Amino acid sequence: MTKSLELLNNRISAKRYIEDFKLTDEQATELLESTRLAPSSFGLEPFRVLLIENKEIREELKEAWWNQFGITQSAGIMIWVGYREEYLTQTHFVEQVERNIPVEFKDIRDMMIGGAGTVLSTLEMTRDEWTARQAYISLGTVLNTAQELGLDTCPSEGFSQADVAKVLEKHNLIDTKNEKVLVGMFVGKVDTTQEFHHSFTKTRRPADKAYKIVK
Ligand SMILES: Cc1cc2nc3c(=O)[nH]c(=O)nc-3n(C[C@H](O)[C@H](O)[C@H](O)COP(=O)(O)O)c2cc1C
Repeated sequence: MTKSLELLNNRISAKRYIEDFKLTDEQATELLESTRLAPSSFGLEPFRVLLIENKEIREELKEAWWNQFGITQSAGIMIWVGYREEYLTQTHFVEQVERNIPVEFKDIRDMMIGGAGTVLSTLEMTRDEWTARQAYISLGTVLNTAQELGLDTCPSEGFSQADVAKVLEKHNLIDTKNEKVLVGMFVGKVDTTQEFHHSFTKTRRPADKAYKIVK
């Protein structure tokens, strides 16, 4: 069995956490680097990630995050913040393409910007949805990194987007004109002494329902 599959087999979302557990700087960097190094469509990286360890800010986020235990009990919450359409297409795309494609390949730069615009306008989804999809790839990647670091996590989309944004804005952590909250992830150490520390046991559909090989 691969190391990745072994990690996936063993990971289970943590719903209760040891309150005084803190991330080391190395762990925080490994987590954040995993989000940064994950792939994205056209390499456009249309989001950035906050790791909020600050307890007071997390207390303020609690209600907006549907009072979930992880928001304050965990060692930190990672929040993916996506760029809104105008900033995304007018500013961010251009910056990314300039970074990813050398200056002497101007045609390719132009093609990339035009191509991304065309692809996005032909997909049956909004720009915001496309942006969120890229963030979820990064979320999926960091889940396994956390597992490898011996940390417990729970992805989380159970929050009010607008209310979380208000708290982040108060602390100058988001520019709501250009950015939108996409998804979060609690990270820390599970507290197995608390009831419902994991929902139940890890269960999945049988393999024959989940996938099919076509040769
Ligand atoms: C995108 C996403 C959002 C989720 N949001 C929440 C959440 O807000 N609260 C929660 O307790 N669990 C949340 N979960 C955890 C799922 O319930 C959990 O991953 C699922 O039941 C499978 O269990 P496992 O992660 O233990 O394998 C979320 C999972 C994903 C992938």
